[in-house]
Amino acid sequence: MTEVLRVDPENPDAESIARAADCLHAGGLVAFPTETVYGLGAHALDPRAVQRIFAAKERPPNDPLIIHVASVDDVAPLVAEFPQAARALANRFWPGPLTMVLRRSERVPAEVTAGLETVAIRVPSHPVARSLLQHARIPVAAPSANRFSRPSPTRAAHVLADLDGRIDIILDGGPTTVGLESTVVDLAHRPSTVLRPGAIDAAALDAVVSDMLIVSGAVERATEGMPSPGMLAKHYAPSTPLKLFEGEPAVALDELLRHARRHLDQGQSVVVLAFSGDLESLRTLRARLITLGDERDPPSVASRLYAALRESDELGADILLVRNITGDHPLSTAIRDRLRRAAAL
Ligand code: TXA
Ligand code: MG
Repeated sequence: MTEVLRVDPENPDAESIARAADCLHAGGLVAFPTETVYGLGAHALDPRAVQRIFAAKERPPNDPLIIHVASVDDVAPLVAEFPQAARALANRFWPGPLTMVLRRSERVPAEVTAGLETVAIRVPSHPVARSLLQHARIPVAAPSANRFSRPSPTRAAHVLADLDGRIDIILDGGPTTVGLESTVVDLAHRPSTVLRPGAIDAAALDAVVSDMLIVSGAVERATEGMPSPGMLAKHYAPSTPLKLFEGEPAVALDELLRHARRHLDQGQSVVVLAFSGDLESLRTLRARLITLGDERDPPSVASRLYAALRESDELGADILLVRNITGDHPLSTAIRDRLRRAAAL
Protein backbone atom coordinates (compact mmCIF):
# COMPACT_ATOMS: atom_id res chain seq x y z
CA MET A 1 0.00 0.00 0.00
CA THR A 2 2.92 2.31 0.68
CA GLU A 3 4.95 2.66 -2.47
CA VAL A 4 8.67 3.38 -2.19
CA LEU A 5 10.10 5.29 -5.14
CA ARG A 6 13.89 5.44 -5.28
CA VAL A 7 15.13 8.74 -6.57
CA ASP A 8 18.55 10.21 -7.24
CA PRO A 9 19.03 12.66 -4.35
CA GLU A 10 20.79 15.21 -6.54
CA ASN A 11 18.69 14.87 -9.66
CA PRO A 12 15.37 13.09 -8.99
CA ASP A 13 13.64 11.69 -12.06
CA ALA A 14 10.68 13.67 -13.35
CA GLU A 15 8.28 10.72 -13.41
CA SER A 16 8.60 9.90 -9.71
CA ILE A 17 8.29 13.56 -8.79
CA ALA A 18 5.19 13.91 -10.99
CA ARG A 19 3.54 10.90 -9.34
CA ALA A 20 4.29 12.24 -5.89
CA ALA A 21 2.98 15.69 -6.85
CA ASP A 22 -0.24 14.15 -8.27
CA CYS A 23 -0.67 12.20 -5.05
CA LEU A 24 -0.42 15.42 -3.01
CA HIS A 25 -2.97 17.13 -5.26
CA ALA A 26 -5.35 14.20 -4.74
CA GLY A 27 -5.13 14.59 -0.95
CA GLY A 28 -2.57 11.80 -0.42
CA LEU A 29 0.43 11.54 1.88
CA VAL A 30 3.98 11.62 0.52
CA ALA A 31 7.13 11.23 2.60
CA PHE A 32 10.15 13.00 1.12
CA PRO A 33 13.72 13.79 2.13
CA THR A 34 14.69 17.28 3.20
CA GLU A 35 18.21 18.32 4.18
CA THR A 36 17.22 17.94 7.86
CA VAL A 37 14.97 14.87 8.21
CA TYR A 38 12.29 13.15 6.11
CA GLY A 39 8.98 15.01 6.08
CA LEU A 40 5.46 13.60 5.74
CA GLY A 41 3.76 15.90 3.26
CA ALA A 42 0.14 16.72 2.49
CA HIS A 43 -1.63 19.55 0.62
CA ALA A 44 -1.51 22.30 3.24
CA LEU A 45 -4.73 23.97 2.09
CA ASP A 46 -6.74 20.71 2.11
CA PRO A 47 -7.94 20.15 5.70
CA ARG A 48 -8.80 16.49 5.11
CA ALA A 49 -5.38 15.74 3.69
CA VAL A 50 -3.81 17.47 6.69
CA GLN A 51 -5.95 15.42 9.07
CA ARG A 52 -4.55 12.28 7.45
CA ILE A 53 -1.06 13.32 8.59
CA PHE A 54 -2.19 13.41 12.20
CA ALA A 55 -3.91 10.02 11.85
CA ALA A 56 -0.89 8.35 10.20
CA LYS A 57 1.56 9.69 12.79
CA GLU A 58 -0.81 9.34 15.75
CA ARG A 59 0.18 12.94 16.42
CA PRO A 60 -1.88 14.98 18.90
CA PRO A 61 -3.97 17.53 16.98
CA ASN A 62 -2.68 20.39 19.17
CA ASP A 63 0.83 20.10 17.66
CA PRO A 64 1.08 22.50 14.68
CA LEU A 65 2.77 21.64 11.37
CA ILE A 66 5.40 23.40 9.27
CA ILE A 67 4.34 24.49 5.77
CA HIS A 68 7.00 23.90 3.12
CA VAL A 69 7.07 26.09 0.03
CA ALA A 70 9.26 26.24 -3.08
CA SER A 71 10.41 29.83 -2.68
CA VAL A 72 10.12 32.98 -0.63
CA ASP A 73 7.57 34.24 -3.20
CA ASP A 74 5.10 31.64 -1.96
CA VAL A 75 5.05 33.02 1.60
CA ALA A 76 2.86 36.12 1.15
CA PRO A 77 -0.48 34.28 0.66
CA LEU A 78 0.07 32.30 3.86
CA VAL A 79 0.86 35.16 6.24
CA ALA A 80 -0.93 38.24 7.56
CA GLU A 81 2.34 40.08 7.66
CA PHE A 82 5.82 39.38 6.24
CA PRO A 83 8.05 41.64 8.33
CA GLN A 84 11.33 43.04 7.03
CA ALA A 85 13.34 40.95 9.50
CA ALA A 86 11.71 37.76 8.24
CA ARG A 87 12.49 38.75 4.64
CA ALA A 88 16.11 39.37 5.56
CA LEU A 89 16.39 35.97 7.25
CA ALA A 90 14.70 34.29 4.28
CA ASN A 91 17.15 35.94 1.88
CA ARG A 92 20.10 34.76 3.93
CA PHE A 93 19.05 31.25 5.01
CA TRP A 94 16.50 29.97 2.48
CA PRO A 95 16.52 27.47 1.00
CA GLY A 96 17.79 25.83 4.16
CA PRO A 97 17.13 24.48 7.67
CA LEU A 98 15.32 27.52 9.10
CA THR A 99 11.62 27.61 9.98
CA MET A 100 9.97 30.97 10.70
CA VAL A 101 6.81 31.38 12.74
CA LEU A 102 4.77 34.31 11.40
CA ARG A 103 1.22 35.59 11.80
CA ARG A 104 -0.96 33.45 9.57
CA SER A 105 -3.41 34.50 6.88
CA GLU A 106 -7.04 33.36 6.68
CA ARG A 107 -6.13 30.85 3.96
CA VAL A 108 -4.20 28.56 6.31
CA PRO A 109 -6.52 25.88 7.73
CA ALA A 110 -6.77 25.59 11.51
CA GLU A 111 -5.75 21.92 11.15
CA VAL A 112 -2.25 23.04 10.11
CA THR A 113 -1.70 25.57 12.88
CA ALA A 114 -3.55 23.68 15.63
CA GLY A 115 -5.80 26.71 15.92
CA LEU A 116 -2.94 29.17 16.55
CA GLU A 117 -2.86 32.64 14.99
CA THR A 118 0.63 31.89 13.67
CA VAL A 119 2.03 29.58 11.00
CA ALA A 120 5.46 27.96 10.67
CA ILE A 121 7.02 28.14 7.19
CA ARG A 122 10.21 26.98 5.56
CA VAL A 123 11.86 26.56 2.15
CA PRO A 124 13.90 23.33 2.24
CA SER A 125 17.11 23.01 0.21
CA HIS A 126 17.14 19.28 -0.55
CA PRO A 127 16.89 18.81 -4.35
CA VAL A 128 14.12 16.19 -3.96
CA ALA A 129 12.05 18.45 -1.69
CA ARG A 130 12.65 21.41 -3.98
CA SER A 131 11.69 19.48 -7.08
CA LEU A 132 8.53 18.14 -5.45
CA LEU A 133 7.45 21.60 -4.26
CA GLN A 134 8.22 23.18 -7.63
CA HIS A 135 6.21 20.57 -9.51
CA ALA A 136 3.29 20.41 -7.08
CA ARG A 137 3.00 24.21 -6.97
CA ILE A 138 1.09 24.00 -3.68
CA PRO A 139 2.14 24.65 -0.09
CA VAL A 140 2.94 21.32 1.59
CA ALA A 141 2.39 20.78 5.31
CA ALA A 142 5.01 18.34 6.56
CA PRO A 143 6.02 17.26 10.03
CA SER A 144 8.85 14.80 10.46
CA ALA A 145 7.77 11.44 8.97
CA ASN A 146 7.97 9.39 12.17
CA ARG A 147 5.29 7.99 14.46
CA PHE A 148 4.66 10.37 17.32
CA SER A 149 7.32 10.06 20.06
CA ARG A 150 9.79 8.17 17.82
CA PRO A 151 13.04 9.83 16.72
CA SER A 152 12.75 11.76 13.46
CA PRO A 153 13.59 9.69 10.35
CA THR A 154 16.85 10.38 8.57
CA ARG A 155 16.50 7.50 6.10
CA ALA A 156 13.63 6.08 4.05
CA ALA A 157 13.88 2.82 6.04
CA HIS A 158 12.99 4.75 9.22
CA VAL A 159 9.88 6.13 7.54
CA LEU A 160 8.89 2.67 6.34
CA ALA A 161 9.43 1.19 9.83
CA ASP A 162 7.06 3.75 11.36
CA LEU A 163 4.48 4.41 8.64
CA ASP A 164 4.31 1.43 6.24
CA GLY A 165 0.71 0.97 5.09
CA ARG A 166 -0.33 4.33 6.51
CA ILE A 167 0.94 6.63 3.77
CA ASP A 168 0.84 6.55 -0.03
CA ILE A 169 4.37 7.20 -1.26
CA ILE A 170 7.91 7.43 0.10
CA LEU A 171 10.44 9.20 -2.08
CA ASP A 172 13.66 7.45 -1.07
CA GLY A 173 16.50 9.87 -1.66
CA GLY A 174 18.97 8.21 0.69
CA PRO A 175 20.12 9.53 4.07
CA THR A 176 19.51 13.17 4.92
CA THR A 177 22.55 15.38 5.44
CA VAL A 178 21.95 17.57 8.51
CA GLY A 179 20.11 14.87 10.45
CA LEU A 180 18.42 17.16 12.98
CA GLU A 181 15.21 19.15 12.50
CA SER A 182 15.31 22.78 11.36
CA THR A 183 15.83 25.72 13.68
CA VAL A 184 12.40 27.16 14.56
CA VAL A 185 12.35 30.90 15.25
CA ASP A 186 9.21 32.70 16.37
CA LEU A 187 9.08 36.15 14.73
CA ALA A 188 5.42 36.73 15.57
CA HIS A 189 6.00 37.63 19.21
CA ARG A 190 8.44 39.90 21.07
CA PRO A 191 11.15 39.04 21.83
CA SER A 192 11.80 36.82 18.82
CA THR A 193 12.59 33.41 20.21
CA VAL A 194 14.40 30.34 18.97
CA LEU A 195 11.82 27.68 19.85
CA ARG A 196 13.93 24.79 18.61
CA PRO A 197 17.74 24.93 18.17
CA GLY A 198 19.11 23.62 14.89
CA ALA A 199 21.94 24.05 12.40
CA ILE A 200 21.35 27.83 12.32
CA ASP A 201 21.74 29.25 15.82
CA ALA A 202 20.54 32.46 17.47
CA ALA A 203 23.93 34.12 16.88
CA ALA A 204 23.69 33.47 13.12
CA LEU A 205 20.16 34.92 13.07
CA ASP A 206 21.29 37.90 15.15
CA ALA A 207 24.09 38.63 12.70
CA VAL A 208 21.48 39.21 9.96
CA VAL A 209 18.91 41.16 11.98
CA SER A 210 21.15 42.85 14.51
CA ASP A 211 18.54 45.42 15.49
CA MET A 212 16.32 42.65 16.76
CA LEU A 213 16.55 40.69 19.98
CA ILE A 214 16.56 36.95 19.29
CA VAL A 215 16.62 34.79 22.40
CA SER A 216 16.77 31.03 22.89
CA GLY A 217 13.92 30.03 25.08
CA ALA A 218 12.20 26.91 23.83
CA VAL A 219 12.06 24.91 27.00
CA GLU A 220 11.43 27.81 29.37
CA ARG A 221 8.62 29.19 27.29
CA ALA A 222 7.06 25.80 26.67
CA THR A 223 6.84 25.14 30.40
CA GLU A 224 5.31 28.58 30.93
CA GLY A 225 2.41 27.44 28.78
CA MET A 226 3.62 28.89 25.48
CA PRO A 227 1.63 27.44 22.60
CA SER A 228 4.37 25.27 21.13
CA PRO A 229 3.26 21.82 22.21
CA GLY A 230 5.66 20.11 19.81
CA MET A 231 8.47 21.26 22.05
CA LEU A 232 7.35 18.86 24.77
CA ALA A 233 10.27 16.75 25.90
CA LYS A 234 8.52 13.45 25.27
CA HIS A 235 8.43 14.17 21.55
CA TYR A 236 11.86 12.66 20.84
CA ALA A 237 11.95 9.83 23.36
CA PRO A 238 13.12 6.35 22.36
CA SER A 239 11.31 3.48 24.12
CA THR A 240 14.39 2.23 26.02
CA PRO A 241 14.98 4.38 29.15
CA LEU A 242 17.84 6.74 28.33
CA LYS A 243 20.17 8.12 31.00
CA LEU A 244 22.26 11.11 30.08
CA PHE A 245 25.61 12.17 31.56
CA GLU A 246 26.64 15.80 31.22
CA GLY A 247 29.42 18.17 32.15
CA GLU A 248 33.18 17.82 32.02
CA PRO A 249 33.80 14.86 29.68
CA ALA A 250 36.17 12.80 31.85
CA VAL A 251 33.93 13.17 34.93
CA ALA A 252 30.75 12.41 32.97
CA LEU A 253 32.36 9.35 31.37
CA ASP A 254 33.44 8.07 34.80
CA GLU A 255 29.94 8.44 36.10
CA LEU A 256 28.56 6.65 33.04
CA LEU A 257 30.99 3.76 33.61
CA ARG A 258 29.91 3.45 37.26
CA HIS A 259 26.26 3.40 36.23
CA ALA A 260 26.89 0.84 33.50
CA ARG A 261 28.68 -1.50 35.93
CA ARG A 262 25.88 -1.22 38.46
CA HIS A 263 23.25 -2.17 35.87
CA LEU A 264 25.41 -5.00 34.52
CA ASP A 265 25.99 -6.34 38.04
CA GLN A 266 22.22 -6.51 38.44
CA GLY A 267 22.06 -8.69 35.34
CA GLN A 268 20.60 -5.98 33.12
CA SER A 269 21.50 -5.41 29.48
CA VAL A 270 23.12 -2.09 28.75
CA VAL A 271 23.65 -0.16 25.53
CA VAL A 272 26.07 2.77 25.45
CA LEU A 273 25.86 5.37 22.72
CA ALA A 274 29.40 6.71 22.64
CA PHE A 275 31.77 9.09 20.90
CA SER A 276 34.73 7.41 19.21
CA GLY A 277 37.13 9.00 21.71
CA ASP A 278 35.35 7.23 24.59
CA LEU A 279 35.30 3.75 23.05
CA GLU A 280 38.67 2.70 24.47
CA SER A 281 37.52 3.32 28.07
CA LEU A 282 34.24 1.51 27.42
CA ARG A 283 35.62 -1.64 25.82
CA THR A 284 36.06 -3.42 29.16
CA LEU A 285 32.28 -3.25 29.77
CA ARG A 286 30.00 -6.12 28.80
CA ALA A 287 27.74 -3.53 27.16
CA ARG A 288 26.74 -3.09 23.53
CA LEU A 289 28.47 -0.02 22.12
CA ILE A 290 27.04 2.09 19.33
CA THR A 291 29.21 4.89 18.06
CA LEU A 292 28.10 8.45 17.47
CA GLY A 293 31.35 9.33 15.72
CA ASP A 294 33.83 12.02 16.65
CA GLU A 295 32.64 14.49 19.29
CA ARG A 296 34.80 17.19 17.65
CA ASP A 297 32.80 16.80 14.43
CA PRO A 298 29.27 17.88 15.43
CA PRO A 299 27.86 17.77 11.86
CA SER A 300 28.75 14.10 11.55
CA VAL A 301 27.36 13.33 15.03
CA ALA A 302 24.13 15.16 14.13
CA SER A 303 23.75 13.23 10.88
CA ARG A 304 23.90 9.84 12.63
CA LEU A 305 22.21 10.64 15.98
CA TYR A 306 18.67 9.52 15.16
CA ALA A 307 19.77 6.39 13.30
CA ALA A 308 21.91 5.50 16.33
CA LEU A 309 18.98 6.09 18.70
CA ARG A 310 16.75 3.84 16.60
CA GLU A 311 19.45 1.17 16.39
CA SER A 312 19.95 1.29 20.18
CA ASP A 313 16.23 1.06 20.74
CA GLU A 314 15.94 -2.03 18.54
CA LEU A 315 18.42 -3.92 20.73
CA GLY A 316 15.72 -4.01 23.41
CA ALA A 317 18.18 -3.33 26.23
CA ASP A 318 17.12 -2.46 29.77
CA ILE A 319 18.89 0.87 29.67
CA LEU A 320 20.61 3.18 27.25
CA LEU A 321 23.48 5.33 28.56
CA VAL A 322 24.82 8.38 26.72
CA ARG A 323 27.41 11.02 27.52
CA ASN A 324 26.13 14.28 26.09
CA ILE A 325 28.16 16.30 23.61
CA THR A 326 30.12 19.36 24.76
CA GLY A 327 31.11 22.48 22.84
CA ASP A 328 29.33 25.51 21.42
CA HIS A 329 28.97 24.63 17.75
CA PRO A 330 25.33 25.32 16.74
CA LEU A 331 24.83 21.62 16.08
CA SER A 332 26.35 20.70 19.47
CA THR A 333 23.71 22.89 21.10
CA ALA A 334 21.02 21.23 18.98
CA ILE A 335 22.32 17.71 19.74
CA ARG A 336 22.37 18.47 23.50
CA ASP A 337 18.79 19.69 23.25
CA ARG A 338 17.60 16.55 21.43
CA LEU A 339 19.39 14.19 23.82
CA ARG A 340 17.90 16.01 26.82
CA ARG A 341 14.44 15.60 25.33
CA ALA A 342 15.13 11.93 24.61
CA ALA A 343 16.24 11.40 28.21
CA ALA A 344 13.28 13.17 29.81
CA LEU A 345 10.27 11.13 30.91
O1 TXA B 1 13.40 20.11 9.74
C1 TXA B 1 12.20 20.18 9.96
O2 TXA B 1 11.68 21.19 10.46
C2 TXA B 1 11.34 18.96 9.59
C3 TXA B 1 11.35 18.84 8.08
C4 TXA B 1 10.40 17.78 7.57
O3 TXA B 1 11.04 20.08 7.51
N1 TXA B 1 10.01 19.11 10.10
C5 TXA B 1 9.72 18.99 11.41
O4 TXA B 1 8.38 19.13 11.71
O5 TXA B 1 10.55 18.78 12.26
P1 TXA B 1 7.74 18.75 13.12
O6 TXA B 1 6.28 18.83 12.93
O7 TXA B 1 8.27 17.45 13.57
O8 TXA B 1 8.19 19.92 14.04
C6 TXA B 1 7.59 21.18 13.88
C7 TXA B 1 7.89 22.03 15.07
C8 TXA B 1 7.11 21.55 16.27
O9 TXA B 1 7.95 21.67 17.40
C9 TXA B 1 5.95 22.53 16.34
O10 TXA B 1 5.41 22.68 17.63
C10 TXA B 1 6.60 23.79 15.84
O11 TXA B 1 7.46 23.37 14.81
N2 TXA B 1 5.59 24.69 15.28
C11 TXA B 1 4.87 24.54 14.15
N3 TXA B 1 4.01 25.55 13.97
C12 TXA B 1 4.20 26.39 15.02
C13 TXA B 1 3.62 27.63 15.41
N4 TXA B 1 2.66 28.21 14.69
N5 TXA B 1 4.06 28.22 16.55
C14 TXA B 1 5.05 27.63 17.28
N6 TXA B 1 5.63 26.46 16.96
C15 TXA B 1 5.22 25.83 15.85
MG1 MG C 1 8.67 15.83 14.62
